[in-house]
Amino acid sequence: MSDSLRIRSLFRNYEVNFIGDFTRPLRGLVDQHAFFIIDSIIWETYIDNLKGVISEERLFLVEANENNKSLDKCREIIETLVARQVRRNEKLVAIGGGIIQDLTAFSASIIYRGIEWSFFPTTLLGQSDSCIGSKTSINLGDKKNLVGNFYPPSEIYIDTMFLDTLSVDDIKSGIGEIMHYYLYAASPLFDELIRDYAMIIRDRNLLMKYIRASLKIKTSVIENDEFDRGERNKFNYGHTFGHAIESVTDYAIKHGQAVTVGMDMANYVAMKMGYMSPGIFHDLHTDLRINFPEFDWNRINLDNYLAFLAKDKKNVGNNVGCILSKGPGILEKQQLPLDDHFRGMIHAYFSRQVLTGKRTMRSLNE
Ligand SMILES: NC(=O)c1ccc[n+]([C@@H]2O[C@H](COP(=O)([O-])OP(=O)(O)OC[C@H]3O[C@@H](n4cnc5c(N)ncnc54)[C@H](O)[C@@H]3O)[C@@H](O)[C@H]2O)c1
Ligand SMILES: [Zn+2]
Repeated sequence: MSDSLRIRSLFRNYEVNFIGDFTRPLRGLVDQHAFFIIDSIIWETYIDNLKGVISEERLFLVEANENNKSLDKCREIIETLVARQVRRNEKLVAIGGGIIQDLTAFSASIIYRGIEWSFFPTTLLGQSDSCIGSKTSINLGDKKNLVGNFYPPSEIYIDTMFLDTLSVDDIKSGIGEIMHYYLYAASPLFDELIRDYAMIIRDRNLLMKYIRASLKIKTSVIENDEFDRGERNKFNYGHTFGHAIESVTDYAIKHGQAVTVGMDMANYVAMKMGYMSPGIFHDLHTDLRINFPEFDWNRINLDNYLAFLAKDKKNVGNNVGCILSKGPGILEKQQLPLDDHFRGMIHAYFSRQVLTGKRTMRSLNE
């Protein structure tokens, strides 16, 4: 079947296969004596398709939460693999979202100096973004994604049927990442996604074309900058401001929705600094708002938020490393001094955010 996307990688070329029935490739992998690392919610939800196919001897279940995305869990996985006599030429298979992906990829990368792994992403974020690009990230205590490397799977199978059981918040999180790829590439699908937003949330089958387009945009960049040394940096658009939103809300706001807010904040800063025109800011703000989290902005403490921004991995010295936009398709990397002017802009953004319900967003430019 030619319904696939091929990715060139410095490790090994790999393929994303868009499939209608995940149980077919799954049975093939069982026949190859693969070992499965599965999200426990997926195991319970899809028990009829999984139990009886995968033997308990070849199964490791993980509760997908950030506490479990740890070196301790990787050690547990590796000890289990050794105890169950998994060989160097046998494969690991991850079934779940980004957490299961990161745990499997990192464990696969270090056991016996690397064994192959395959991935069935079950979240929208996994299917439209994280499944390609080779990055692995493990948390160290409360420091998110501090440890990791690059280690792509050998094949990926995308079955959008999984999305039927995903929470609305997780769908919105995936949509935030998709939006960010479309804004990077100035894709015409951005407007379509906004127009169809309500329908997509109800009917997840409609997501297929948006997932494909998002992966194609990401592919065009990672094939030329797999190790994130140049162009790929621009995918951090919305991420510096977004990570700090995740941290300051203690992860109550999921990654992709935080990135949506993060892009709006980056655009606000860009407008205040004269990079982005007020007209473009307002148009994008109206569009991005559709995917904002339901959140009481009064709860964000500015000092705490700024403290998280100051700790971002991408910062150099006392500067905040971020990607600013002049408009869709025109992004550039900036290091902004964390001075009173910068604090003032962030303060103004949050104050206006609190007032949004009462005033039109036009006031953001006052
Ligand atoms: N390695 C990378 O390139 C990369 C990129 C982006 C994000 N990430 C990481 O991915 C993680 C976030 O991953 P995520 O958003 O994909 O989700 P997740 O793995 O955190 O799962 C979110 C929730 O959805 C549940 N779930 C998963 N699939 C489901 C389904 N089909 N039906 C019902 N429930 C389902 C999970 O059990 C969990 O409760 C973060 O740790 C982030 O750091 C990694
Ligand atoms: Zn992201």
